[in-house]
Amino acid sequence: MALYVKGASFFSRSRIWNPEQLIRVWCHGKNSNNNTKVPELEERPEKQYHSSYHQKEKGKIYDKKPFKFQCQKGKAYFWCSCGHSKRQPFCDKSHASPYIKISLRPVRFVAEETREYWFCNCKQTNNRPFCDGSHKLPDVQSATATVKS
Ligand code: FES
Repeated sequence: MALYVKGASFFSRSRIWNPEQLIRVWCHGKNSNNNTKVPELEERPEKQYHSSYHQKEKGKIYDKKPFKFQCQKGKAYFWCSCGHSKRQPFCDKSHASPYIKISLRPVRFVAEETREYWFCNCKQTNNRPFCDGSHKLPDVQSATATVKS
């Protein structure tokens, strides 16, 4: 099955993409010519201002796949990094509960355009708050997640 993506800037209009190629572009941040970046995999400007991007600890595995969400340009979102939120992939302040001692804090992200973003829902990403393909690692796939698939 082939897919034509109309209007997306990094897809050539004359090119027919199949889903496997799209997944490869998504997971590695480059197309087959290694010259096109996926915006989510580029360096986040907020990293220099928010220490939550640099937390060493990783959260509890909530799900073993990413979550696509339509963000609004200029709006701030707080991605849950602990995995305990009931409003995944976003924070509901569960980390502040005195009963479950959690040191992880949410990661603030401001959308630079109105479009769909793929947020990490396994909480093991090295590119917070976005999916970087870490959910495919054998450790993550064999672990018990909050969401049963
Ligand atoms: S869901 Fe893909 S890295 Fe977490």
